[in-house]
Amino acid sequence: MDRIAITGGARLAGRIPISGAKNSAIKLMAASLLTEEPLILTNMPRLADTRFLGRLLTRLGTVVEESDDPSADVVTAGQTMSLTTREIVSGFASYDLVRQMRASFNVLGPLVARTGQAKVSLPGGCTIGARPVDLHLKALEALGARIDLHEGYVYAQAPRGLIGAEIEFPFVSVGATEHALLAAVLAQGTTVLKNAAQEPEIADLAECLNKMGAKVSGAGTPTITIEGVSRLGGARHAVIADRIEMGTYALAAAMAGGEVRLTHARPELIDALSAKMIEAGVGVTRHDDGVTITRDPAARLKAVEVTTDPYPGFATDLQAQFMALMTLAEGESLVRETIFENRFMHVPELGRLGADIAVHGGEARVRGVDALEGAQVMATDLRASVSLVIAGLAARGETTVNRVYHLDRGFERLEEKLSACGAVIRRIKGDGEPDE
Ligand code: UD1
Repeated sequence: MDRIAITGGARLAGRIPISGAKNSAIKLMAASLLTEEPLILTNMPRLADTRFLGRLLTRLGTVVEESDDPSADVVTAGQTMSLTTREIVSGFASYDLVRQMRASFNVLGPLVARTGQAKVSLPGGCTIGARPVDLHLKALEALGARIDLHEGYVYAQAPRGLIGAEIEFPFVSVGATEHALLAAVLAQGTTVLKNAAQEPEIADLAECLNKMGAKVSGAGTPTITIEGVSRLGGARHAVIADRIEMGTYALAAAMAGGEVRLTHARPELIDALSAKMIEAGVGVTRHDDGVTITRDPAARLKAVEVTTDPYPGFATDLQAQFMALMTLAEGESLVRETIFENRFMHVPELGRLGADIAVHGGEARVRGVDALEGAQVMATDLRASVSLVIAGLAARGETTVNRVYHLDRGFERLEEKLSACGAVIRRIKGDGEPDE
C-alpha cells in the first residue's frame, strides 16, 4: 500500500486550487438515478470515492463517462462526469459495495422514488462511531415506503409511488436530510423537512435538483419544502468547492508557516474555522474566490477551544486537522466533538509524533508542546489521516503516514498540491500488499 513521507520544517508559499466537494459530488451522482436524461457534473474531484460510486451506479444501469477538458489546466479544472440512467437495470446494492462507502446507501431513496422498489445493504459499522441509518429509514417510511429489514438488507417498496409528508428530524443529520430530499422530489404532493441540516452541500444538491425540474425551496435553512413532480430531466451542474479541503489546506499553511493563497473556493464556507484560526494568531485574508493564510513560523500560536457543531458551526470534518495545529500552540486547548462519538482516533497517532493530548469522553485536552518529532504513523480515517500530514509538516525529521488509501478517498493530488507550495512530501508506492 502507498505511504506518504513528509520532511517537516519547510515553509509554504504559493497557491493551492481547491477541488469540487467530495461530499456534494457523491450525492449529486446519486441524483442521476432520478432521470433517464443525462446529468452532466462539472468541477468533479478525481477521487477514489467518486470512482467507486461510479462503479456502483453502473451496476444499477447508469452509463458513466468521465472526461477532462483538454484545453483546461488539470491542476485547477475538475473533471466532467456525464451520468445517464435510461433504465434502472437493478435495484440491488450489495453489502460488499455499500460497506466500502457509507454514502452509497443514499441510492436507496432515488431507486424507490423512480422504480417503487430497492434492496440495499445496511452500511454496517464505521470507524468513526456507530453511524446508524434510522433517520434515513424513518424519512422514507414517512414518505410512504414500506421498509423491511432482513439479514442486513433494507427492502423498500412503494409500488404506487412515494407521497409527500412532513418530516421533523429529532436531530440534525446531513445524510438523512439529503436522502429525504433525493426521494421526495418525485413524491406526490408536498414534503416539508424540519430541523434539516444546513450544510452548503445540501443547497448544492437542491440547486442541481431544481435545474433537473424539481421544486425545492429553503435548502440551506432548517426548513426545506419540496413540491413533488412526476418526472425530472437532465441538467448541467458545477460541483460546489470543497470547504473541508479548503479548511485542511488553511490549517496546513498555518502549521507549516508562510503564505498560501487558496483559490477556486468560497471563503464564507469556512467562517467558523477562520474565526478560530484568527483567535489562535493566524492571518486569514478573504478574497472573492478564496483566502490567503499567513503565519510567521517564529511566532507561537495561542491555544483556543473548539466545539464541533452542524453547519454553520465548526465542522467535525476539520476537528482532527485543527487538533494537529493545537499540538504546537502555547497553552492548553480543549477540543469538543459533539457529532461523532469515536472521532479521536488520530490522538494516539499524534501522540507518536510527541503531541500531549488526553481524551475524556467527547473532549480532548491538548497541551501544546515545543516541538513534534517525525515518526511512522497510521492513517485511521479520511480526516484523521490528513491531520497526521499536517502535523508532519511541522515535525522535526521525517514522518511516514501509512495506509494512505484513506487520503485518496477524499483529497485529490494532496502531495502535488502541497509540494507545489514548497512542502517536502512524497508518495512511496506500495507493492500492492496490505501493510497491516
Ligand atoms: C456527513 C459527511 C461527513 C460529516 C458528517 C457531519 C458525507 C458523505 N459525509 O456524514 O463527512 O462528517 O456529515 O457533518 O456527506 N445519525 C443517526 N441516525 C441516522 C443518521 C445519522 O443516529 O440515521 C447520527 C450519526 O451517527 C452522527 C450524527 O447523526 O452521530 C450526524 O451524522 P450525519 O450528519 O448523518 O453524517 P453523515 O451524513 O453520515
